[in-house]
Amino acid sequence: MTTSAPSSRPPRAELHVHVEGTLEPGLAFELAARNGVALPYPDPASLRAAYDFADLGSFLELYTANMAVLRTAADFADLTRAYLTRAARAGVRHAEISFDPQAHLARGVPLEDVVGGIASVLATSAADHGVSTLLIASFHRDKPVVDALDVLDRLLATRAPIVGIGLDNAEIGYPPGLFTDLYARAREAGLRRTAHAGEEGPAANVRDALDLLHAERIDHGIAVVQDPDLLTRVAAEQVPFTVCPVSNVRLRAVPSLTEHPLPAMIEAGLLVSINSDDPPYFGAYVDDVDDAVTAALGLTRDQRAALAAASFQGSFLPRDRVVAHL
Ligand code: ADE
Ligand code: ZN
Repeated sequence: MTTSAPSSRPPRAELHVHVEGTLEPGLAFELAARNGVALPYPDPASLRAAYDFADLGSFLELYTANMAVLRTAADFADLTRAYLTRAARAGVRHAEISFDPQAHLARGVPLEDVVGGIASVLATSAADHGVSTLLIASFHRDKPVVDALDVLDRLLATRAPIVGIGLDNAEIGYPPGLFTDLYARAREAGLRRTAHAGEEGPAANVRDALDLLHAERIDHGIAVVQDPDLLTRVAAEQVPFTVCPVSNVRLRAVPSLTEHPLPAMIEAGLLVSINSDDPPYFGAYVDDVDDAVTAALGLTRDQRAALAAASFQGSFLPRDRVVAHL
């Protein structure tokens, strides 16, 4: 997809992007060579050609396998820097970046290296890239809550520079209610709270994320359109939804962009922003997503401006910093 100059688009925030999901095939091969890791593809083009997914599960399999190349703090720093360089070109002025601590601990990579590598780049992101940043630790909903609690305690004990927590990975079979203790502890610690919900699971997961986890923001949440009462409620409460339309199509949660529930969410008055999720895996950074959605759904200039404004309004930035962006 093509990329236009940032000046041709409104400044925006990106609130839903997994740093591990920003791994470009070229960088994957570079890191594999640096770390002596063998990738089961002959070259970056072959790896990219494998980015054709039947569902969330098949994506998560490849996404997780590719993490094998991320071994050191320098690897995580390079990954983060590459994303910020590209995001700045997309017109992103503020990014809230998730990472998956459990995925790396399971591979024997120390938490300090993961957090230290990412944070070393985020610390100077405004000066280096013109992008302010916040970091979110995302927990795997298909792992036991005790595991997540242990990792959260370690993040808190080491004063990891995280603004909040999230919940990701497989949704079906792992309802939000499993993580009430995790979210309660995060809330007590003063952390902000988002959660993937209603991506391939039902609208009830969105409601439970709000009511049981006290999530302040919902990642994806597209199933909300299936529950008119909930739709009315989240519009009234102006709950931010970080929607990723290209991801939803590529993971076949939605058959096509023209059938995406984004217009229904906008129509219902929700606070919706557009995001990339895992850009190289889905062939679209956030500017590409913006272009694709605009073309498929015929969004007006005003609607695109409202989506860009919502990306700041739904952020975890302090109110005065949000206002400064609007
Ligand atoms: N991890 C990375 N991308 C994800 C997605 N779209 N849903 C759940 N977990 C994820
Ligand atoms: Zn996601």
